[in-house]
Amino acid sequence: MTEQHNDVRLHAVQADITTLRVDAIVNAANSSLLGGGGVDGAIHRAAGPELVHECRLLEGCKTGDAKATKAYRLPAKCIIHTVGPLWRGGGNDEAALLASCYRRAIGIAAARGLASIAFPAISTGIYGYPLALAAGTAVATVRDALLTAPSLREVLFCCFSADDLAHYQALLEP
Ligand code: AR6
Repeated sequence: MTEQHNDVRLHAVQADITTLRVDAIVNAANSSLLGGGGVDGAIHRAAGPELVHECRLLEGCKTGDAKATKAYRLPAKCIIHTVGPLWRGGGNDEAALLASCYRRAIGIAAARGLASIAFPAISTGIYGYPLALAAGTAVATVRDALLTAPSLREVLFCCFSADDLAHYQALLEP
Protein backbone atom coordinates (compact mmCIF):
# COMPACT_ATOMS: atom_id res chain seq x y z
CA MET A 1 0.00 0.00 0.00
CA THR A 2 1.53 3.32 -1.01
CA GLU A 3 1.80 6.31 1.26
CA GLN A 4 -0.28 8.29 -1.24
CA HIS A 5 -3.14 5.78 -1.07
CA ASN A 6 -3.00 5.99 2.71
CA ASP A 7 -3.32 9.78 2.70
CA VAL A 8 -6.54 9.63 0.70
CA ARG A 9 -8.18 8.21 3.81
CA LEU A 10 -7.11 10.94 6.26
CA HIS A 11 -8.95 14.25 6.59
CA ALA A 12 -9.08 17.07 9.11
CA VAL A 13 -12.41 18.79 9.75
CA GLN A 14 -13.63 21.43 12.19
CA ALA A 15 -16.79 20.17 13.86
CA ASP A 16 -18.57 19.08 17.00
CA ILE A 17 -17.78 15.36 16.93
CA THR A 18 -21.26 14.48 18.24
CA THR A 19 -22.76 15.60 14.92
CA LEU A 20 -20.65 13.37 12.65
CA ARG A 21 -22.34 10.59 10.71
CA VAL A 22 -19.49 8.07 10.75
CA ASP A 23 -19.29 4.43 11.82
CA ALA A 24 -17.37 5.26 14.99
CA ILE A 25 -16.57 8.38 16.94
CA VAL A 26 -13.80 8.23 19.50
CA ASN A 27 -14.31 9.66 22.97
CA ALA A 28 -11.43 11.17 24.99
CA ALA A 29 -12.65 9.71 28.28
CA ASN A 30 -11.15 9.19 31.73
CA SER A 31 -10.42 5.80 33.27
CA SER A 32 -13.82 5.60 35.00
CA LEU A 33 -15.63 5.81 31.63
CA LEU A 34 -18.48 7.44 33.53
CA GLY A 35 -18.33 10.84 31.83
CA GLY A 36 -16.62 14.15 32.49
CA GLY A 37 -16.06 17.52 30.82
CA GLY A 38 -14.83 18.44 27.35
CA VAL A 39 -15.65 16.12 24.48
CA ASP A 40 -16.57 13.35 26.96
CA GLY A 41 -19.31 15.51 28.48
CA ALA A 42 -20.58 16.55 25.06
CA ILE A 43 -20.78 12.92 23.90
CA HIS A 44 -22.63 11.76 27.01
CA ARG A 45 -25.09 14.65 26.81
CA ALA A 46 -25.82 14.05 23.13
CA ALA A 47 -25.98 10.25 23.35
CA GLY A 48 -28.38 10.30 26.29
CA PRO A 49 -28.45 8.56 29.67
CA GLU A 50 -28.37 5.02 28.25
CA LEU A 51 -24.70 5.56 27.43
CA VAL A 52 -23.55 5.82 31.04
CA HIS A 53 -25.56 2.70 31.88
CA GLU A 54 -23.63 0.69 29.29
CA CYS A 55 -20.34 2.31 30.36
CA ARG A 56 -20.88 1.15 33.95
CA LEU A 57 -20.77 -2.45 32.73
CA LEU A 58 -17.30 -1.93 31.22
CA GLU A 59 -15.62 -1.45 34.62
CA GLY A 60 -13.33 1.34 33.50
CA CYS A 61 -10.48 1.51 31.03
CA LYS A 62 -6.71 1.87 31.45
CA THR A 63 -4.78 4.80 30.02
CA GLY A 64 -3.82 3.92 26.44
CA ASP A 65 -6.58 1.34 26.09
CA ALA A 66 -10.02 1.60 24.40
CA LYS A 67 -13.49 0.05 24.73
CA ALA A 68 -16.56 0.34 22.50
CA THR A 69 -20.23 1.00 23.23
CA LYS A 70 -23.33 1.70 21.20
CA ALA A 71 -23.91 5.34 20.20
CA TYR A 72 -27.58 5.65 21.26
CA ARG A 73 -28.94 9.05 20.11
CA LEU A 74 -25.86 9.98 18.09
CA PRO A 75 -25.76 9.64 14.30
CA ALA A 76 -22.59 7.50 14.61
CA LYS A 77 -22.97 3.71 14.84
CA CYS A 78 -20.71 3.25 17.86
CA ILE A 79 -18.48 5.08 20.29
CA ILE A 80 -14.93 3.95 21.00
CA HIS A 81 -13.91 5.30 24.40
CA THR A 82 -10.21 5.72 24.98
CA VAL A 83 -8.22 7.21 27.85
CA GLY A 84 -5.39 9.51 26.87
CA PRO A 85 -2.46 10.36 29.13
CA LEU A 86 -2.38 13.42 31.35
CA TRP A 87 0.52 15.60 30.11
CA ARG A 88 3.20 15.68 32.81
CA GLY A 89 6.06 17.23 30.83
CA GLY A 90 6.61 14.48 28.28
CA GLY A 91 8.95 12.22 30.24
CA ASN A 92 6.27 9.90 31.57
CA ASP A 93 5.52 7.76 28.53
CA GLU A 94 2.92 10.23 27.30
CA ALA A 95 3.77 9.78 23.59
CA ALA A 96 3.62 5.97 23.77
CA LEU A 97 0.35 6.06 25.71
CA LEU A 98 -1.21 8.54 23.29
CA ALA A 99 -0.11 6.43 20.30
CA SER A 100 -1.64 3.40 21.99
CA CYS A 101 -5.03 5.18 22.18
CA TYR A 102 -5.05 5.69 18.40
CA ARG A 103 -3.79 2.17 17.67
CA ARG A 104 -6.30 0.48 19.99
CA ALA A 105 -9.21 2.51 18.58
CA ILE A 106 -8.25 1.66 14.97
CA GLY A 107 -7.85 -1.98 16.04
CA ILE A 108 -11.39 -2.10 17.46
CA ALA A 109 -12.79 -0.41 14.33
CA ALA A 110 -10.93 -2.87 12.08
CA ALA A 111 -12.09 -5.88 14.10
CA ARG A 112 -15.69 -4.71 13.58
CA GLY A 113 -15.14 -4.11 9.87
CA LEU A 114 -15.98 -0.41 10.18
CA ALA A 115 -15.37 1.94 7.25
CA SER A 116 -15.12 5.36 8.92
CA ILE A 117 -13.93 6.76 12.24
CA ALA A 118 -13.56 10.25 13.72
CA PHE A 119 -11.04 11.16 16.41
CA PRO A 120 -10.98 14.24 18.65
CA ALA A 121 -7.56 15.62 19.58
CA ILE A 122 -7.16 13.19 22.49
CA SER A 123 -5.48 14.58 25.65
CA THR A 124 -5.07 18.12 24.26
CA GLY A 125 -7.83 19.76 26.31
CA ILE A 126 -8.22 19.15 30.03
CA TYR A 127 -5.25 16.71 30.00
CA GLY A 128 -2.91 19.47 28.72
CA TYR A 129 -1.00 17.65 25.96
CA PRO A 130 0.54 20.24 23.57
CA LEU A 131 -1.54 20.14 20.38
CA ALA A 132 1.39 20.25 17.94
CA LEU A 133 3.05 17.25 19.58
CA ALA A 134 -0.20 15.33 19.97
CA ALA A 135 -1.25 15.93 16.36
CA GLY A 136 2.08 14.61 15.08
CA THR A 137 1.70 11.43 17.11
CA ALA A 138 -1.95 11.07 16.07
CA VAL A 139 -1.29 11.34 12.34
CA ALA A 140 1.82 9.13 12.34
CA THR A 141 0.16 6.43 14.45
CA VAL A 142 -3.04 6.38 12.40
CA ARG A 143 -1.10 6.18 9.12
CA ASP A 144 0.78 3.19 10.45
CA ALA A 145 -2.26 1.46 11.99
CA LEU A 146 -4.22 1.78 8.74
CA LEU A 147 -1.79 -0.60 7.07
CA THR A 148 -3.49 -3.41 9.01
CA ALA A 149 -7.06 -2.02 8.90
CA PRO A 150 -8.28 -2.67 5.34
CA SER A 151 -11.98 -2.00 6.06
CA LEU A 152 -11.31 1.62 7.09
CA ARG A 153 -11.79 3.96 4.15
CA GLU A 154 -11.88 7.26 6.00
CA VAL A 155 -10.35 8.70 9.15
CA LEU A 156 -11.45 12.15 10.28
CA PHE A 157 -9.41 14.23 12.70
CA CYS A 158 -12.20 16.27 14.25
CA CYS A 159 -10.88 19.62 15.45
CA PHE A 160 -12.83 21.90 17.74
CA SER A 161 -10.90 25.09 16.89
CA ALA A 162 -9.63 26.65 13.67
CA ASP A 163 -6.10 26.68 15.16
CA ASP A 164 -6.18 22.94 15.72
CA LEU A 165 -7.52 22.41 12.22
CA ALA A 166 -4.62 24.39 10.72
CA HIS A 167 -2.11 22.17 12.56
CA TYR A 168 -3.69 18.96 11.28
CA GLN A 169 -4.06 20.30 7.75
CA ALA A 170 -0.35 21.15 7.66
CA LEU A 171 0.50 17.61 8.74
CA LEU A 172 -1.85 16.03 6.21
CA GLU A 173 -0.64 18.06 3.22
CA PRO A 174 0.94 15.77 0.64
N1 AR6 B 1 -16.21 17.86 19.48
C1 AR6 B 1 -14.91 17.75 19.11
N2 AR6 B 1 -13.87 18.09 19.89
C2 AR6 B 1 -14.16 18.58 21.11
C3 AR6 B 1 -15.48 18.74 21.59
C4 AR6 B 1 -16.53 18.35 20.71
N3 AR6 B 1 -17.81 18.44 21.07
N4 AR6 B 1 -15.42 19.24 22.84
C5 AR6 B 1 -14.13 19.42 23.15
N5 AR6 B 1 -13.37 19.04 22.10
P1 AR6 B 1 -10.87 17.18 26.27
P2 AR6 B 1 -8.71 15.39 27.21
C6 AR6 B 1 -11.90 19.02 21.95
O1 AR6 B 1 -10.62 18.15 27.38
O2 AR6 B 1 -7.74 16.51 27.10
C7 AR6 B 1 -12.82 14.93 30.38
O3 AR6 B 1 -13.29 15.45 31.58
C8 AR6 B 1 -11.08 19.93 22.83
O4 AR6 B 1 -11.09 21.26 22.32
O5 AR6 B 1 -12.27 16.87 25.91
O6 AR6 B 1 -8.35 14.06 26.64
C9 AR6 B 1 -12.60 13.43 30.45
O7 AR6 B 1 -13.58 12.80 31.26
C10 AR6 B 1 -9.71 19.27 22.70
O8 AR6 B 1 -9.12 19.66 21.47
O9 AR6 B 1 -10.14 15.75 26.55
C11 AR6 B 1 -11.24 13.35 31.06
O10 AR6 B 1 -11.28 13.50 32.47
C12 AR6 B 1 -10.05 17.79 22.60
O11 AR6 B 1 -11.45 17.71 22.30
C13 AR6 B 1 -10.51 14.51 30.46
O12 AR6 B 1 -11.52 15.46 30.13
C14 AR6 B 1 -9.77 16.98 23.86
O13 AR6 B 1 -10.11 17.77 25.00
C15 AR6 B 1 -9.79 14.15 29.19
O14 AR6 B 1 -9.05 15.24 28.75
